[in-house]
Amino acid sequence: MQRRNFIRIAGGGVVAAATLSTSGLAACSSGLPPEAIEAWQGPGRDVAADPDVRRWLLSHAILAPHSHNLQSWIADLGTPGQITLRCDLQRLLPQTDPLSRQIMMSHGTFLELLDLSARERGLRADIALFPEGQFGPEKLDNRAVARIRLSPDVAVRKDPLFAQILRRHTNRNAYDPKRAVPPEAWQAMRAAVQAHALRFGFVGAGQAEGLAVHRRIAAEAWRIELTTPRTVMESYKVLRVGAAEIAAHRDGLTLLDPTVELLDRVGLFDRSNAPAPDDYASTSQIKDFAKKLDSTPGFLWLVSEGNERVTQINAGRAYARVQLAATAQGLSLQPLSQALQEYAEQAQPYADIHALCGATRAGQTVQMWARVGYAPPVEPAPRRRLQDFIHA
Ligand SMILES: Cc1cc2nc3c(=O)[nH]c(=O)nc-3n(C[C@H](O)[C@H](O)[C@H](O)COP(=O)(O)O)c2cc1C
Repeated sequence: MQRRNFIRIAGGGVVAAATLSTSGLAACSSGLPPEAIEAWQGPGRDVAADPDVRRWLLSHAILAPHSHNLQSWIADLGTPGQITLRCDLQRLLPQTDPLSRQIMMSHGTFLELLDLSARERGLRADIALFPEGQFGPEKLDNRAVARIRLSPDVAVRKDPLFAQILRRHTNRNAYDPKRAVPPEAWQAMRAAVQAHALRFGFVGAGQAEGLAVHRRIAAEAWRIELTTPRTVMESYKVLRVGAAEIAAHRDGLTLLDPTVELLDRVGLFDRSNAPAPDDYASTSQIKDFAKKLDSTPGFLWLVSEGNERVTQINAGRAYARVQLAATAQGLSLQPLSQALQEYAEQAQPYADIHALCGATRAGQTVQMWARVGYAPPVEPAPRRRLQDFIHA
């Protein structure tokens, strides 16, 4: 049976709706418009036949995970044999990601998938990060995030993680609480990170107390994000309700539910105001997420020394590899970014998760924290058209 939540409607009432899940992200039921998820079929015939391999590589890179599915990647193909990656500054999350750390990680995930794809085609991708200078710690600008030079190289080795790119999806559903993550799966995820200088940690079977602390911090951080009007509104702004809106945007957080769609059409689904903290719309989501955390048999984290922009990119690369390795093991992942976010209301969960993950020395940063487990498959998240990312 589908779990129900309640959403607030104009005038203060509430109505049952499909699960509005963590990060304000919706757990979709079936019925996504096919064109919104066509990218998951892999490169189209025209792209596969194109003698310029860059579009083939980009067809895979745009399947990378990105915070709030904002897809802030711009690929400049102006110079042959080269891709210049820039950030679309219209696609940021100033409230929940005020320093754009997660945006930089989301460029790291893109670069990792690009590199895996280049290897698959026998190409060496020489990636120069911030070739026009590194962004400061607070703001991004129009300078390039990376310049990627591609050249054939017989010494390049294919990476088996490539095979997981089309299969990887963020899974926000409940996980099987009775199925522990086996040691060999943790080992595969740890091994996947080794290319990057990040510390991988996890908690799982036989560590009931540790699991309970992770659940508690994640639940509290989620409560804060949901009951802080400006942060919950940031998710509402990129919430796409119903097939027509999803097809029009092909990004953001998707919600497919006939009741909500109907209410939305007649102007009764209120997306213009944050629900009050004690509103059923808030409390039911908090409860729902707590249940999902309770079902979760494992948590993992990635800690960096320092928090430079280059480090954030590498953390994104490492996370992409962890999730692909988890996919190969049949495991699902969902990042838990709330406690890692750098806005004032999250200061306590931020301190708690850093202490718990042993990131207490100056500069040490928990770049990623995620829940891990087994769950039935989910549908893919929308992606825009390949040409939408390309500036020739
Ligand atoms: C840096 C980063 C932070 C993220 N944080 C969250 C999060 O807190 N909660 C969540 O459900 N998903 C989170 N995600 C997953 C994205 O929402 C997801 O990648 C996006 O919606 C696209 O879906 P896909 O991963 O299935 O392709 C995060 C992803 C990245 C790269």
